[in-house]
Order: sequence, then C-alpha cells, then structure tokens
Amino acid sequence: DIPVIAIDGPSGSGKGTITQMVARRLGYHLLDSGALYRLTALAAQRQGIGIADIDGLVRVAGKLDVAFLPTPPGEPARVLMGGDDVTADIRTETCGENASRVAAIQAVRDALLQRQRDFRQAPGLVADGRDMGTVIFPDAPVKIFLTASAEERAERRYRQLLDAGVDVSIDALLEEIRARDDRDMNRASAPLRPADDAQVIDSTGLSIEEVLEKVMAAAGQ
Ligand code: CDP
Repeated sequence: DIPVIAIDGPSGSGKGTITQMVARRLGYHLLDSGALYRLTALAAQRQGIGIADIDGLVRVAGKLDVAFLPTPPGEPARVLMGGDDVTADIRTETCGENASRVAAIQAVRDALLQRQRDFRQAPGLVADGRDMGTVIFPDAPVKIFLTASAEERAERRYRQLLDAGVDVSIDALLEEIRARDDRDMNRASAPLRPADDAQVIDSTGLSIEEVLEKVMAAAGQ
C-alpha cells in the first residue's frame, strides 16, 4: 500500500507551502489538487466555455493536458498546459475565483477524481486540497486538517501580495477569504470539512517551521 498524507484546509491556511516541505523531506510525490481546478477554469475561459456549460466544463476537465515540473526548494512547481507555461496565469485572483465556481460542480469533480488518484505512486504522496481525506483518499493513513483564523490568513495573503509588489486593502482580502470559506464550506459537492479521522492543526500564531514540525509529528515522522 502506497502511503498518502492528506492535507486539507481552507484558503490561505498555508497548506501549499507545508505540502511542498513535507513532500521534499520525505521524498514523496505531490498533488496540488487546487491547481487542477484552476487549470480547468483557465482552459474553459480560454476556450470560451462559460460556467453554465456543464458538459463543456466536464469535457475540459477530462482532457486537461498538464505537466507539473519540479523547481528549486521554496518555488512553486512550474505548470505547463498544452506545453504553455501557465504557472503565473493560474495563480491570479480571478482564476482562483473561477476555480472555486468550477469546483462546486459535482460532474467536474467526478471528471478529476481518477486523475487525482493516479498521483498515488511509490514511495508515497502528499496531497493538498479540500477533500483529499474525505473523498479522494478516504483510506489515507495520515489526514491533517490545517486551519488558521480568517484574520491571520488575510494577513498572510496581504504580506505575500506586498512582497509581489501588489498593494491591496487587508479588509478587502479578509472579505474575500470569508466569501471563499463560505462557498467552500456550504456547497453541496464535497463541502470543506475535516475527515472524521483527521488531526486538526490550527496554525494561527505559528511559524511555518512550527507548523511543519507539528505536521511531521502528526504523520509519525
Ligand atoms: O488556496 P486557494 O483556495 O487560494 O486555492 P487552491 O487550493 O488552489 O484552490 C482553488 C479552488 O479550488 C478553491 O477555492 C476550492 O474551491 C477548489 N478546490 C476544491 O474544491 N477541491 C480541492 N481538492 C482543491 C481545490
């Protein structure tokens, strides 16, 4: 049985960074499931397929031609779609927003299910998402639910954007985070919630290193 560490949680909880660090430490593969929803949203937008065209969206999701290329530590993986580098394109706020709409459609989630399970390869997988422990890998031996207060998540996002040279209001970010939480937690398809057997880690007030140590301990490493 190939081990899976499922790391779920809301937007801005630091899952992405932690998942990368854990994967690197253990030499495991990595699944960024959010990227698949972002890629579906981007491909649909580029092909002029709207949010109401469910058959069109399912077709796009089923035919995603993507490759994740490894990068040096600390950098996000490079993402290619149909050979094009879309690393930056899928990280925009608009794409995140569209991804969360596309992700609310059950048929789209179904279309991406097997593709996600195929990432489970030796020696192991660290999977980042909303439903890794509940739907995609219900038998994962390690399930973590990573949270932080909405204020702290808005603050982290604010600092990230500042570093990238983007100046936005922290209040606007907080509102966005709350809206996203609301949509992710209250949707009918795979609503965001900890699996019954998940270990909940609240990262409010903790450094990335402190969170990493807690996650490694929870993973029995
Ligand atoms: O961290 P952030 O929410 O900004 O982005 P993400 O993890 O890349 O996910 C983008 C969107 O895809 C989220 O808003 C979720 O609604 C959705 N998603 C999902 O429904 N299920 C997953 N396993 C991963 C992401």
